[in-house]
Amino acid sequence: PRIAVFASGSGSNFEAIAQAAADGELEAEVVLLVTDKPLAKVMERAERFRIPSVAFNPKAYKDKADYERTVLGRLREEGVDWVALAGYMRLIGPTLLDAYPNRIINIHPSLLPAFPGKDAIGQAMDAGVEVTGVTVHYVDEGMDTGPAILQREVPVVPGDREKTEAAIHAVEHDLYREALRKVLAESAVTE
Ligand code: GRF
Repeated sequence: PRIAVFASGSGSNFEAIAQAAADGELEAEVVLLVTDKPLAKVMERAERFRIPSVAFNPKAYKDKADYERTVLGRLREEGVDWVALAGYMRLIGPTLLDAYPNRIINIHPSLLPAFPGKDAIGQAMDAGVEVTGVTVHYVDEGMDTGPAILQREVPVVPGDREKTEAAIHAVEHDLYREALRKVLAESAVTE
């Protein structure tokens, strides 16, 4: 299967997925990085992996559907089967959802449905929970909604956001690979 990763920022999850595919730990090929931020650090990572990347500026399009049709055209050119969102800071609309039903997944740094949306780690720390975590889930029109594929708990380090964040990111990189293996294996059985 051919995977496109969508990302807007640093791209450590992009790298974890690309590395797993390169190492054969994930039987898939990362064929494209899509970003909505041309200066995102994730583009440098894609270059290092020699994975083609494409930056689209959503503001250059008349609306979300128009933007997504352009993205979709590129996904089709690359023969993309699956889309993995990794820090992609936009909601996915019907154009992409209809083109990739149950084939778009996302990672979020909380135990959803707790703490959806921005700064989930800050939200968890402010709420004073002892345990937060990571969720990989199927994407629907909502913000961090859609059925969970895998979740893993991560203890909060009280008062230490940096350590909590580092622990969460480490778990993310493992969990994304596991979740991709799971959905790819499941879809191979049903096809
Ligand atoms: C991750 O915490 C991910 O769960 C969230 O955005 C962050 C992206 O980090 N959706 P990175 O760009 O992959 O390093």
